[in-house]
Amino acid sequence: MLEASLRLVVLFIAISASAAQTPAILDTSGQPLRRGVDYLILPGVTDVAGGLTLQPRNATARCPLFVAQEPLAQVVSQGLPVSFAPFAAGENMVREGRDLIATFSAATTCVQSTSWRIGEEDAQSRRRFIVTAGQPSYFRIERNATTNAYQIGWCPGESCPNCGRPRCGAAGILIRDGRRFLALDGPAFPFRFRRA
Ligand SMILES: *[C@@H]1O[C@H](CO)[C@@H](O)[C@H](O)[C@H]1NC(C)=O
Ligand SMILES: *[C@@H]1O[C@H](CO)[C@@H](O)[C@H](O)[C@H]1NC(C)=O
Repeated sequence: MLEASLRLVVLFIAISASAAQTPAILDTSGQPLRRGVDYLILPGVTDVAGGLTLQPRNATARCPLFVAQEPLAQVVSQGLPVSFAPFAAGENMVREGRDLIATFSAATTCVQSTSWRIGEEDAQSRRRFIVTAGQPSYFRIERNATTNAYQIGWCPGESCPNCGRPRCGAAGILIRDGRRFLALDGPAFPFRFRRA
């Protein structure tokens, strides 16, 4: 009798633990995004731009490289593949709203890390560019409850329990010097993820 109720308790704990898991981010073929697998990050709506890529800030600056979006062109580039590493040890799926490190799977002439981090502010708008090289920042992917589209944001939680109230922001597109940079602190841009 005692054993039976103990089993019930264990079962209940197991069920509530799995129910507490946030949903996985799904790729364009409906499969969960997995740790270490390469994805192209494309616009959630087609025909507005290409995939995310790496670009210098301007014609004279060489490094570090900024996260940017390929422009619309005759042949639209799908950008560079990105892989995700959830902060949570042993977590192999990329889940909604969980901290992760995003890294371009590409070699660059900068010979620096291609993991994403928060970079300098744009002088005019005070929006923060998302760049590479140096200590990576923990980003997250969220599903917009209204539009159902995925958006990328920065709001460290589990990776920084003592951060207090960080200046959280959603990633959108900031056009500077004719380039489409990924930047926080503006309207969120909708993305989808296609396995590379
Ligand atoms: C190019 O970008 C760098 C780094 O942000 C900046 O210091 C420099 O002033 C910029 N140059 C021009 C011509 O805009
Ligand atoms: C969801 O998307 C809509 C339309 O782009 C936007 O206005 C809204 O701010 C987004 N919601 C969140 C929580 O970012």
